[in-house]
Amino acid sequence: MVPTVEWKEGAVRLLDQSQLPEKVVFLDCRDYQTVARAIRELLVRGAPAIGVTAAMGVALGSNSLKSSQFDEFSKEVHEICDALAATRPTAVNLFWAIERMKRALAESRQLPVEAIKRRLVDESQRILDEDIAMNKTMGRYGAVLVQDGQTILTHCNAGALATAGYGTALGVVRAAWEQGKKIRVLADETRPVLQGARLTAWELMQDGIPVTLITDNMAGALMRQGLVHLCVVGADRIAANGDVANKIGTYSVAVLAKAHGIPFYVAAPYSTIDLNTPSGEQIPIEQRQPGEVTSICGKAVVAPVGVPVLNPAFDVTPAAYITAIITERGVFKPGELAERFRT
Ligand code: MRU
Repeated sequence: MVPTVEWKEGAVRLLDQSQLPEKVVFLDCRDYQTVARAIRELLVRGAPAIGVTAAMGVALGSNSLKSSQFDEFSKEVHEICDALAATRPTAVNLFWAIERMKRALAESRQLPVEAIKRRLVDESQRILDEDIAMNKTMGRYGAVLVQDGQTILTHCNAGALATAGYGTALGVVRAAWEQGKKIRVLADETRPVLQGARLTAWELMQDGIPVTLITDNMAGALMRQGLVHLCVVGADRIAANGDVANKIGTYSVAVLAKAHGIPFYVAAPYSTIDLNTPSGEQIPIEQRQPGEVTSICGKAVVAPVGVPVLNPAFDVTPAAYITAIITERGVFKPGELAERFRT
């Protein structure tokens, strides 16, 4: 897979996902404002990828600061952090990664500012490397739940494109495939932004993993026909009680899965688990522009001008609908997470 995000010659290089699958083009961000815009406008998306990108944005912005006094430098780095944190509200990985960068800054306050700048680049690279490693571990734990010959339904894109590499939900798929299991993926197209059609279908085809695209409203009928054996999705934020925020439409898939007795798994690293948020009720849900709903990717207009639109980008699946949560520390019942991830 081409890298989603990387530090390249003093810039943050992003694969522009808004242009997939038509074009594979990269954007070299040379200032943190461009990084912030890329996150807000979905050039890079997916909770872990947003976190890694924001961390690199902090490093990039810090590198351009002129101040040689720690207090002044630190104040300006915090302003950069605030600008990056204001891009998207739901994925907690964004705030987690920014907090980690602030910690690295505070811990190196005794160093000269030029050394702190290098330390911040290193820290962002560590966040990226750890993300890939966690996804591979998670994939191995999750693959145990997948049997040879099964069909896995997924929603949105929780793949290599949504992370620093390998993916969370699609990491489970990749690991099972690498173990030689003959599996197949049903990818929900995921209206309105079509992450399933544009991104999940694309990345699985790149790797030669069998994938069939369906529209979101087909999932129930296919489940009823016995064509879905399990569901695996990613997460943008998991509350302490195990409620999961993920791409809009995830809740409907989970309810359908329960109605048909199909296991519904969520795959996510510890950076997605937010023990400070007691339940899904308190997770902020991003509301996006009507244009995403009234057109297909800004191209074909599919609704009358001026029609009122609702466009919540995420929903919350209550813990009761989730069979288990696959993490890099193992597979747990939603209710076990708080205890397992307290430290
Ligand atoms: O709006 P997006 O494309 O950033 O939403 C992405 C999702 O909802 C993913 O399922 C989630 O971030 C998990 S990615 C490993």
